[in-house]
Amino acid sequence: MLPFRGTPARGALRHRPPPRPRRRRLMRRCARRPARSASPIAFLPSEPCPAMLLPCVRSVAARRLARDVPRACSCSAQGPSPRGYSRGAAGKGLVLGVYSSEKDDGAAQLTSAGDAFDRLVSGKLRALLSLCGPPLKKGKTRIFHGLHQDFPSVAVVGLGKKNAGINEQENWNEGKENIRTAVAVGCRQIQDLEIPCVEVDPCGDAQAAAEGAVLGLHEYNELKQKKKPVVTPQLHGSAESEAWQKGVIYAEGQNLARYLMEAPANYITPIKFAEHIEQKLRSFSNVKVHIRQESWITAQEMGAFLSVAKGSAEPPIFLEIHYLGSANTDDSPLVFVGKGVTFDSGGISLKPSSGMDAMRADMGGAATVCSAIVTAAALNLPLNIIGLAPLCENMPSGKANKPGDVVRAKNGKTIQVDNTDAEGRLLLADALCYAHNFNARAIVNAATLTGAMDVALGSAATGVFTNSSWLWTHLYEASILTGDRVWRMPLFEHYTKQVTDCPLADVSNIGKYSRAGGACTAAAFLKEFVTASHWAHLDIAGVMSNKDEVPYLRKGMAGRPTRTLVEFAARLSQDSHNAK
Ligand code: BES
Ligand code: ZN
Ligand code: ZN
Repeated sequence: MLPFRGTPARGALRHRPPPRPRRRRLMRRCARRPARSASPIAFLPSEPCPAMLLPCVRSVAARRLARDVPRACSCSAQGPSPRGYSRGAAGKGLVLGVYSSEKDDGAAQLTSAGDAFDRLVSGKLRALLSLCGPPLKKGKTRIFHGLHQDFPSVAVVGLGKKNAGINEQENWNEGKENIRTAVAVGCRQIQDLEIPCVEVDPCGDAQAAAEGAVLGLHEYNELKQKKKPVVTPQLHGSAESEAWQKGVIYAEGQNLARYLMEAPANYITPIKFAEHIEQKLRSFSNVKVHIRQESWITAQEMGAFLSVAKGSAEPPIFLEIHYLGSANTDDSPLVFVGKGVTFDSGGISLKPSSGMDAMRADMGGAATVCSAIVTAAALNLPLNIIGLAPLCENMPSGKANKPGDVVRAKNGKTIQVDNTDAEGRLLLADALCYAHNFNARAIVNAATLTGAMDVALGSAATGVFTNSSWLWTHLYEASILTGDRVWRMPLFEHYTKQVTDCPLADVSNIGKYSRAGGACTAAAFLKEFVTASHWAHLDIAGVMSNKDEVPYLRKGMAGRPTRTLVEFAARLSQDSHNAK
């Protein structure tokens, strides 16, 4: 253990040469009693131990280590558990980035924060990196213990190519994605060591680094007695703190959506959802939240929404949020609408029981749009946004919709409910009609609407169906930055015909060719309730959950594409073009 006495001010430490004499004393002590405890430098079990490598490595780095590193090295495989290491009162983890080598010698290309840290520890970081294996690949880590008294554990993570920018094939900014991934992996390593605080290298883009840290550490632990240790990420250094803070806010927005989507349906009922969002917005004086009850929904003649809700014992809620961020409170708002089915059993057209539990996240549309508004308020974005979320359960019961029933939407159109599992479009039909009351700049709805969307694109991108190329461009450009991508889908008349050719009503809630183009017929159905010239429907069924596709999100409900919605709103707030 490094024998630390007191904790000098951080700034002072950064500019002070490393405490060599003390280390020599320690080395002598370790040499006398080699097997007693952890040496200042230890490695995770999977990593080679530098002291063991010393006899066969003949580089400058090895010679330096031979001088400075005690020979008695205890790999954590044999040594004490991470809990056993003394970290000192101020002990923090540190995550540093390293670019893949551009030269043949494979020498580590540290970031500027990595470079500064390496100087602080007299070049030991570089030396260890060259000793402990091949150059770090993108997203791979090595962890070093005991390099510096402020940072008992340092995770070095591969960032990939140094100047990775926008990748035209992938439709995203690869540099930002690499940073998010690397930082997430590094932070999780520190979390595994149960270190409560981690400083993070901004890696040249503090917003992306903060997003990687906050998204990468998030886990839904709420209902478990044994929880993962809480780790607080902080920016390493003082530059770019504004960008870091912005990244934290964006990521916390997505985490809010993940939380709501992951929570069991008996915890997040329609009213609980609304109350949770209301509580998040309580501190903002420029936000008004209306939690509309069933009587209000009935008075609004939202017959399609009510027809779904009546199958459940849980009362429906229509959540309405007004965020007035624009200097002019009369400015036309951006209107967000989100499908809020807090549990979708399918109703009388019951879903198979296997995997049905995932339908607790069928309020992902409501979760992402409401979280985007919470985030917009936290960022104080200068535009007005209205959020609308019809919330209910889709359950089978004696009062539930039956296949073939006909219901009437708010705009007077009649709908034949040919499949009660196609319920999301019924809620949205009424909510979209209502959205036309606000003289909106644009109406954007998000919904976990169709399994067919997942079949079409999987989790690579959200499908966007829009009647406006202006809107599409904003969404697309936003998504390149966030890495939470969108892909444009068709709104052809071809699909409209398949939902309007209906025996008993104006429109059927499923396409007449059953499963063919299911995401497109669902979008065509929604279009029947839209007259606005700037409308986009985001089918987010494919991006609802994450297995391991997005490396900076753990397995579970993904909260996608909250950051894209926020970035989109931020761009709209800068767009002087009046879309109306
Ligand atoms: N909520 C589902 C869609 C869904 C499926 C979301 C998988 C996320 C993952 C929706 O209400 C639904 O059940 N849609 C049906 C429509 C069909 C009956 C025309 C579907 O996709 O099977
Ligand atoms: Zn359904
Ligand atoms: Zn559904």
